[in-house]
Amino acid sequence: LLHWYAHEQRVLPWRATSDPYAILVSEIMLQQTQVERVLPKYQQFLRAFPTLADLAAAPTADVISAWVPLGYNRRAVSLQSIARQVLAQYAGRIPNTIEELLQLKGIGRYTAGAIACFAYHKQVATVDTNIRRVLHRIFLGLEYPEPKFNDTQMLGLAERVLPAGEAYNWNQALMDLGATICTSGNPLCTQCPLQQSCHAFTEMSQHSLFPSGSVLRQLRKVAEKKTSYQTSQPFTSTNRYFRGRIIDFLRTIPSGQRVALPTLGSQLKSTFSDEELPWLRGIVDGLVKDGLLNCTEEGVRLP
Ligand code: ADE
Ligand code: SF4
Repeated sequence: LLHWYAHEQRVLPWRATSDPYAILVSEIMLQQTQVERVLPKYQQFLRAFPTLADLAAAPTADVISAWVPLGYNRRAVSLQSIARQVLAQYAGRIPNTIEELLQLKGIGRYTAGAIACFAYHKQVATVDTNIRRVLHRIFLGLEYPEPKFNDTQMLGLAERVLPAGEAYNWNQALMDLGATICTSGNPLCTQCPLQQSCHAFTEMSQHSLFPSGSVLRQLRKVAEKKTSYQTSQPFTSTNRYFRGRIIDFLRTIPSGQRVALPTLGSQLKSTFSDEELPWLRGIVDGLVKDGLLNCTEEGVRLP
């Protein structure tokens, strides 16, 4: 894996920096957004907020604005809150141990491990979706019909197999393999450097299930089902869509100005009627709870 990574690694800007703040920004962005979409935003965001202190001091509305169009905007509020906590508790220096990182609200075990490893070269394991799938296949076999390990067991496995002194490259390599070769629905085993030592590959070939047998078809079916589930409801009718639209709209009006809910409603849907106010209030309440909106009797604005 390390040999493969030395030759095939993706060139990514957050791998060319040792600034813990820049690495924190990248990891929060990468949590729910694919690398290709993060790339342009990452550079732009760091130009707008070059240091942790800049981010902590900025108006939250500006941070939310700079986050568009990555989506899942609550991450922007969370990232700024992390910056403010670090400023208050650690004089602006992002901590370098998993224990301290986990104390920060908004940082989970994956992100704590990623920062300790990628920013401070700590020899720690970390497990995200890609790493979980790749380790499962190599060491345990196919993750279908259901995963053999839970999260705790998976982290334990990741810790046991971590090669001494190589945590940085190892963790990055597992992510690259998961993103480019050992993908969820269509693993390219013939191009994989780990074929010879992979349990899932052995499983598939022993049962003549590779490359087009039933297990692989099942893998694909599961992946397709996920996609069709995600698209079974048109995105433009989902609450997530309207959450984004509300933030997009509020960015366009003068800062500080409030918009009454019925006005907001008619901005979102030309057919908006008063019967839909409870629905709109529900979405607004969710945004307020995530720190993305400020709401009073007079209406809403960015925080
Ligand atoms: N996803 C999460 N962290 C990543 C990283 N450092 N490189 C590529 N993809 C990632
Ligand atoms: Fe994934 Fe196939 Fe490589 Fe195993 S051999 S790690 S299943 S791509």
